[in-house]
Amino acid sequence: MATQVLPSAPPPEDPKEKLLPGEHTLPASWWTSEKIFDLEKRAIFNKSWLFCTHASRFSKAGDYYTFTFTGLNFFVIKSKTDGKIKAFHNVCRHRAYPVLKKEKGSTIVMGCKYHGWSYNTDGKLTKAPHFDSVEGFNKDENSLFPIKTHVTEQGLVFVNFSNENVMPFDEWYQGLNVELNEFDFSDYEYHMSYELDGQFNWKTLMDGYQECYHCPTAHPGLSKAFKMETYKVVPKTRYCRHYATIVKEEEPAEPEEPVKEGWFGRGKKQPTEEPKPKKKNVGGEFNGLWVYLFPTNGINCYSPAWYSIRVLPISASHTILQYDIYTKKGLDDATKKEFVDFLQLVELEDFNLCQLTQKNLNQGVYSSGYLHPTKERGVLFYQNLTRDMVKEHFKKEEELGRQINPAFVGKKSDNAETQELDEICNKLECGTDSPKELQW
Ligand code: FES
Ligand SMILES: [Fe+2]
Repeated sequence: MATQVLPSAPPPEDPKEKLLPGEHTLPASWWTSEKIFDLEKRAIFNKSWLFCTHASRFSKAGDYYTFTFTGLNFFVIKSKTDGKIKAFHNVCRHRAYPVLKKEKGSTIVMGCKYHGWSYNTDGKLTKAPHFDSVEGFNKDENSLFPIKTHVTEQGLVFVNFSNENVMPFDEWYQGLNVELNEFDFSDYEYHMSYELDGQFNWKTLMDGYQECYHCPTAHPGLSKAFKMETYKVVPKTRYCRHYATIVKEEEPAEPEEPVKEGWFGRGKKQPTEEPKPKKKNVGGEFNGLWVYLFPTNGINCYSPAWYSIRVLPISASHTILQYDIYTKKGLDDATKKEFVDFLQLVELEDFNLCQLTQKNLNQGVYSSGYLHPTKERGVLFYQNLTRDMVKEHFKKEEELGRQINPAFVGKKSDNAETQELDEICNKLECGTDSPKELQW
């Protein structure tokens, strides 16, 4: 069994940080406008590296998982040809029906249930009934649309929907790989998933996720488990590292009332009949590797388990939160349950904060608030990235006079009539249905 290395410490305090001026949040309209949300999809989500799952969940060729990120249906599959993990849009090249219907499964042939076209695990079209005699039809030109994937050394699987020049993963998250190597992901196995359905904007959740200023008031349990004064969010390249020292509880040598230590130091009183053997503080061995990945993912590693979070925006005021938990191999069920219970409690506390915050943002009485320069530095960091990407993309759209969707893969048809019909639609969309600032 590999030994866990100690996590690196946060950089020392810079006294100048305390003198930074307070800054403001982005305006509340960015949390409520569907037009801004659509622009964010094109400007951020269809350009960024997005976390999907872990490679350990693919044991054999054909194992797949389907996902929907910002309205894009796709699947990730282990190729039979080279064993690599690949991703494709879940869109049949014939008439766009989804080729996979289940959330997960295993198959080396994807047969579309509409007209029977079949694809292999490399997305290649292998069968198109009755099309052999159709002039001009070429199977090789009708493979599933591939999606760029990156699997990290640690097995984390990411996709990027963009068909423009995509920044390589290690440049996008420069330095992340070294930090992830502080945790031995190979010593963990998939345990369970759950999701929460939130009536709020994706940024409402990220705002809370990116600071622990709210922890003493909103997370009483979490605040006992960490030394809150040590909590620090350090911005890196499109990601942030969260640091905090875990509270370690010393167990008395011969306890009158034995205390079973929690996964990061929470005590639980046990029956007194027989003295329990001394147990190491599981969470105490490892202060943790907690990483926020712009725009909407988190990877949080503790000793007994690590979990991922996918924040999936559905609309300006609807967001799904998906959690996957991976526990240490051989971990007993009671400790697994303790970890899951605690995680779910904290996440629910955050969820409730978001529900009520969004309701108030929707009222239109509030626009912007002060952010603390150090305690809410992570919020400022991700909001600035959001602002910059949206502004840059919007500028390009204005210059071009139309919307630019980097995820578009349908390639312009060679057929002149299709082009002409598409152009009619473009004109209508820009003339009537676009926000004022998109009218050109
Ligand atoms: S839509 Fe898939 S075979 Fe027709
Ligand atoms: Fe929180």
